Amino acid sequence: MKEKTKRYMLPENEIPRYWYNIQADMVNKPLPPLNPATKQPLKPEDMYPIFAEELCRQELNQTDAWIEIPEEVREMYKYYRCTPLVRAYGLEKALGTPAHIYFKNESVSPVGSHKLNSALAQAYYCKKEGVTNVTTETGAGQWGAALSYAAKVFGLESAVYQVKISYEQKPYRRSIMQTFGAQVTPSPSMSTRAGKDILTAHPNYQGSLGTAISEAIELARMTPNCKYTLGSVLSHVTLHQTVIGLEAEKQMELAGEYPDVVIGCFGGGSNFGGISFPFMRHNILEGKKTRFVAAEPASCPKLTRGKFQYDFGDEAGYTPLLPMFTLGHNFAPANIHAGGLRYHGAGVIVSQLLKDKMMEAVDINQLESFEAGCFFARTEGIIPAPESCHAIAAAINEAKQCIETGEERVILFNLSGHGLIDMASYDKYLSGDLQNYTLSDADIQKNLDEIGNL
Ligand SMILES: Cc1ncc(COP(=O)(O)O)c(C=O)c1O
Repeated sequence: MKEKTKRYMLPENEIPRYWYNIQADMVNKPLPPLNPATKQPLKPEDMYPIFAEELCRQELNQTDAWIEIPEEVREMYKYYRCTPLVRAYGLEKALGTPAHIYFKNESVSPVGSHKLNSALAQAYYCKKEGVTNVTTETGAGQWGAALSYAAKVFGLESAVYQVKISYEQKPYRRSIMQTFGAQVTPSPSMSTRAGKDILTAHPNYQGSLGTAISEAIELARMTPNCKYTLGSVLSHVTLHQTVIGLEAEKQMELAGEYPDVVIGCFGGGSNFGGISFPFMRHNILEGKKTRFVAAEPASCPKLTRGKFQYDFGDEAGYTPLLPMFTLGHNFAPANIHAGGLRYHGAGVIVSQLLKDKMMEAVDINQLESFEAGCFFARTEGIIPAPESCHAIAAAINEAKQCIETGEERVILFNLSGHGLIDMASYDKYLSGDLQNYTLSDADIQKNLDEIGNL
């Protein structure tokens, strides 16, 4: 019998030396972010007060396809990269599908998710530019954990606003952040104007990523030598995540296959873009026909049911106006357990790509996502993060289609994180205490009408 390879590994010296900037190759570039007061396109310098300068330049760079990864960041990538590409034989067999299913395992990072790929880069640039303190928001705590660790690596102090519902649902992520030395505050809090405003209007508000972003930006503005960092949505974050797809490209070559479909779960777009863009490059430049599928929660459906328009990235309206698929920055998502997917908008690159039909989106209900997560755990032995369960559900749906057609479709998805700190969510699912949330067209429209055309 021919020996089967389960995991495709790359040595340390194959860690990418450049990130891939898809903006340079896109036929239709993303529209520019706008200054909300003047409605003029932003220049990198307009964002310097909030972000590290190099990150502002990366954000708006539409010309350089390859951006060198600083050696200090590559050195830290060696702590966990290259991550394995795994052939999901167990899942394939249990499904009885002729599809070939592969997943890129980002859950092996020290903090348990892909988020460290960008946290290390952002902390490095802050340090290099003389910053001493960083702030951020976090939902489930994966980004907060990554930033807290990266800040410690580069000798920075960190303060994290964690969405209140997740702060309560996932106490161990708070402990992880604190273990790395971060100061963690549930959001909304009374420590900022944005937090006070929303708590005054809605005393029992459970928080949203949009509100936590406002609080973190406000703290960065009010604190000397402090910068804000973001774990998703922005183009520079997705840029850093392309190490996932760049490695996967080489690993698929080792496997002797090329993906017909690439899938990522979708919060703001960074892990989806990270695994997809290096492959999408070949669609753009060489006419390859790979499909790219973003899997979002049905209760927060900005890609499948949102509107493409300029909107704020945060609840209080502190960010620039971004051209995005959005449900409205005032959208209060249901309390699903995939905290990292409870965000009202999509990054500007993915929004443009969806508009141009370069990618697709599907929505997954909470119960379907956990069902897929348990099935994956039982067949591959890894308990996925509730966010990643959405990608697994979408991959299973693709693989099931192949049972009917007999097609040996090559499916690649990103396992963005493990769920070992999310077991309270699994407990709730297993004891039948979770539910689906439905959102009517009227609810979505009402929200969008409230923000109007910005
Ligand atoms: C494990 C995991 N996957 C995915 C996401 C969604 O973010 P993004 O769309 O930027 O990958 C998050 C966000 O917190 C996450 O923690």
